[in-house]
Parts: sequence; structure tokens; C-alpha cells
Amino acid sequence: MIELVNISKSYNRGAVKAVESLNLAVKPGEIFGFLGPNGAGKTTTIKIMVGLLQPDGGTARIGGFDIQKNPLEVKKQIGFVPENPEVYEKITGIEYLNFLGDVHGVPGPERAKRAMELLEMFKLDNAVNDLVQTYSHGMRQKLVLTGSFLHNPPVLIMDEPMVGLDPRSSFDLKEKLQEYCQEHRTVFFSTHILAVAEQFCHRVGIIHQGRLIACGTLEELQKQARNRESLEKIFLELTEA
Ligand SMILES: Nc1ncnc2c1ncn2[C@@H]1O[C@H](COP(=O)(O)OP(=O)(O)OP(=O)(O)O)[C@@H](O)[C@H]1O
Ligand SMILES: [Mg+2]
Repeated sequence: MIELVNISKSYNRGAVKAVESLNLAVKPGEIFGFLGPNGAGKTTTIKIMVGLLQPDGGTARIGGFDIQKNPLEVKKQIGFVPENPEVYEKITGIEYLNFLGDVHGVPGPERAKRAMELLEMFKLDNAVNDLVQTYSHGMRQKLVLTGSFLHNPPVLIMDEPMVGLDPRSSFDLKEKLQEYCQEHRTVFFSTHILAVAEQFCHRVGIIHQGRLIACGTLEELQKQARNRESLEKIFLELTEA
């Protein structure tokens, strides 16, 4: 469902190699956790996947569509949660969701049903008529998360989706994502919360200095490390260089 083939990206005319020859495939029904230290290249990879950045080389395909050749088809397939929940300040929450619903051509009743389910889950239903500028960081994150589900996309791509969420919301989001994957959909998300990755992801990938240094199930990753006690220990060992 997600295929990254030899993706490379550098900044500042090659001075910063953010991602180097990255290969990765994520299947339908999978929850994939993308881990790596600060500056490792997670956001850069994600931006390439969703068409916000052009790679220097390589191909990213979502649902069989090449992001560079068929950007619109890819965008129909994905729900995207960026690293920072930047939403226009001068519109209300519901106006933001309706805007997204219009962009994706989601029929009114379907849109309302899906939005309400998430807004209620996130306890955001009472704030939905307020201007976004009055929202806290967590509330903005919840609004963006709600928007990413609106068109029921087969693939969700999320850059640190749990940041700013309180424990209850984070728990509810995980439940929702699990349900979502049972419908043969795909979730790809980056996180620094190793406990979440350990308990919740079918497979994880670890990117370090732009290279994918490990990828697989927890058992598969354990084989790569000397200290196999926890994903935290494995992560620290594999990224210490
Ligand atoms: N617009 C940019 N211009 C120049 N360098 C950049 C730019 N964006 C990212 N970088 C560099 O590319 C590398 C990868 O950054 P990226 O944001 O992809 O990391 P990340 O894994 O998402 O980190 P974090 O965990 O802190 O979010 C870093 O060295 C960063 O400094
Ligand atoms: Mg990042």
C-alpha cells in the first residue's frame, strides 16, 4: 500500500543529507511506527510521501500511484497529519472540517457522521463552533486528526500524532486506529514514544542519520541488538553511533 523505493533527499545543495536511499513497504492492515532520533529524517520522508517535498531521487507510491506522477490520486488515498497542527486561525473548527470535506468531495451526511464520531471521542464537539485561534495545542491536534479521517482514506500518514494529546485522547486514538486497520487500511506514523510503538505497531522502522537502520517486528529487531530487553534498549543501542 505504501512503497518507498530508494528515496533520497538533501538540503542546502547537498550539504545536509536528510534521507539516503530509503526503501520501505507497508501493507494494508498494518500499523507501522517510524522511529528515529531528532533530525533523523522522519518528517522529510513523510513530506516526500505526501507530496510536500520533491525527493532528489527515488519513488514513493501510495495505493499503486506514484506521488510525483499522480499527486492528486495519491492525495485522495491519504489522510495526513503534519508535524505541527497549523490551521487557519480565523475560521471555526467546523468550518475547517467542512473545507476539508469539500476538498475531498465527502457527501454531507457522511461527513457529519464521521466528524461527529471523532469530535465526540475527542470531546471537541462543544468547541467546534469556536474560532481555531481560541484552541489549545491539543485541541488543534485533535481537529487536524479528525480532519484526516473525514474522507475515510485507505492510508493514514501521521507525523507524531500523539504529541499534545492527553492520556485519554491518546488511548482513544490508538483504539480508533486499531479499528481502522482491521478494515484493511494502513497506518504509518512517526513517534518518539517507544512504548506506543512497542505495544501498538505491527512493525517499526528506525531511521538514523537518514538511513533506515532497522525494520521489522519487535522480534525481528531484537535479533539485531545485543540488549533485547525492550524496544527502548534496542533503539538506544542501534542509534548510539
Ligand atoms: N527545510 C530544511 N532546510 C535545511 N535542512 C533541513 C530542512 N528540514 C530539515 N532539515 C534537516 O534535515 C534533517 C532531517 O530533518 P527532519 O525534520 O526530517 O527530522 P525528523 O526525524 O523529523 O526530526 P524530529 O524528530 O526532530 O522531528 C535534519 O538534519 C534537519 O536539520
Ligand atoms: Mg520531525
